[in-house]
Amino acid sequence: MKLNIKNIKKFYIGYGGLSSHGFDHVERVLRMAKLISKKEGGDMETIEAAALLHDMGRTKEDKNERLDHAAEGAKMARVYLGKINFPKNKIGNVIHCIAVHRFSRGKKPETIEAEIIQDADRLDALGAIIITRVLSHGALHGLPVYDPRIKPLKKYTGKKATAINHFYEKILKITPSSFYTKTAQKIARQRYDFVVKFLDQFKKEWNGEDL
Ligand SMILES: [Fe+2]
Ligand SMILES: [Fe+2]
Repeated sequence: MKLNIKNIKKFYIGYGGLSSHGFDHVERVLRMAKLISKKEGGDMETIEAAALLHDMGRTKEDKNERLDHAAEGAKMARVYLGKINFPKNKIGNVIHCIAVHRFSRGKKPETIEAEIIQDADRLDALGAIIITRVLSHGALHGLPVYDPRIKPLKKYTGKKATAINHFYEKILKITPSSFYTKTAQKIARQRYDFVVKFLDQFKKEWNGEDL
């Protein structure tokens, strides 16, 4: 049996809400991972499965913060892939891709497929879409967009004071050179520069310095 998006979507019910970081994120990661793989290689069947399943543990983590959705997702994926008769010799690598996909946890990908999944996932945190995500997340949590009196913190704490500060505290720390594959580094550079340009323009308009 092949991977079935309808069935996989069920694992993500309740994930993301209005934040545009729900199943649409998973689909973007899938498209990006395929694009990177066309240039960098890797086994497409493994990449497709890992991309579609990589955040399947997320709804469990949302309910219990002590759970790590990567470790949880790896366990869930093993059960799911066993049930659909996914090629047995590829299951181990899919599980590995999911288990190490969180850059912030410091686990190193050991296969090209795992590098591609981590790169594709992190690329979704740069560019135009992250701008909409940060702003809508801020609005949902009642944060001001910007307050020049509140300076960005040097170290990311997870607590956000303003939406604009979040770009300096977290997003701009996702540097292009920190991606594994050359293709992702190139895309990351374009997206990173776009975020910088947006912030420059925002500050110019705020300060009345357009000319
Ligand atoms: Fe994740
Ligand atoms: Fe993700």
